[in-house]
Amino acid sequence: MEMKTVKIGLMGFGNIGVGTYKTLEMNRAVIAANTGIDFEIVKILEKDVDRKRDVVVPREKFTQNPDDLFLDPQIDIVIELLGGIQPATDFMQKAMNNGKHVVTANKAAVAANYDELRKTAADNQVLFRYEASVAGGIPILSALTGPLLGNDFVEVLGILNGTTNYILSQMADAGLAYEDVLKTAQEKGFAEADPTADVEGIDVANKLSILISLIFGERVAPKDIPTEGISKITKEDIEKASAEGNKIKLIGKAKKENGTLTYSVKPTMIPFSHPLAGVNNEFNAVFVKGNAVDELMFYGKGAGPLPTGSAIMGDVIEIGKAMAKNAAYDQVVAGGRK
Ligand code: HSE
Repeated sequence: MEMKTVKIGLMGFGNIGVGTYKTLEMNRAVIAANTGIDFEIVKILEKDVDRKRDVVVPREKFTQNPDDLFLDPQIDIVIELLGGIQPATDFMQKAMNNGKHVVTANKAAVAANYDELRKTAADNQVLFRYEASVAGGIPILSALTGPLLGNDFVEVLGILNGTTNYILSQMADAGLAYEDVLKTAQEKGFAEADPTADVEGIDVANKLSILISLIFGERVAPKDIPTEGISKITKEDIEKASAEGNKIKLIGKAKKENGTLTYSVKPTMIPFSHPLAGVNNEFNAVFVKGNAVDELMFYGKGAGPLPTGSAIMGDVIEIGKAMAKNAAYDQVVAGGRK
């Protein structure tokens, strides 16, 4: 089999950028053996070249000029890992307008500009994929937009934020204080740059907004989802819940009943007997109910550099395979239902 090459430009080299680089470095040979494609990160857009990172990258790969990625004809795929809505959205659109396929883990940008980003992809006949934006390493978006398309969905319910689940688990099981656990979650690379988005439930609202689009085909902006985080949960609340046989979990939920969609993000009592009660630390779980498949639960690491790197590389590989087949735009998954 003739080996094909796919070249990648990476925007952002923080925790997830490094995790993605490492995932590819660790598995490049096995990916090449499985797919017949050699994937290579050739440029990295990053201001802070000298930051201490546990990966060695040739200095000439770094640039501070985004045009070095957009205008480089050898780059096929741009991975956006800058975080935040802007300039990430503009950059993704510029990449697509220059004929690059785009992969992102940026739930804030995808949730805020879902229609616009998908339209830019369609207009340019490029692929836009964002598996890593919801529930980290769990391939929930691929499942919803592939094997589960034969369903009309009733409900989605999930633990969708690793940082808050880590905090609640450590407070409950190790009796640790909120601030100390948040610090550890940051050190482990689970938390957002500004952890307010995690602890106030905004990150879950972003992810739920994306899930609602794919599951129910409706656009609900994150700001329109009633949202409450965990910053007011005390050790006493957790102990009281536990004495009553419950765990407190931050739950994102959307349900369709008699044609009406309801949704929320809030700390919720989950009985010890419920499968979501056993989802601890940075693990996430997404529970969906379809009218044919009935109940399904997906479980895995929802945060962290390598699990997120796994989801990002999955998208990159899917695009590489489509490119290798010369697949027309509408013959491959372009990010969900029409
Ligand atoms: N800050 C996010 C979390 C990262 O803790 O879940 C993954 O989206």
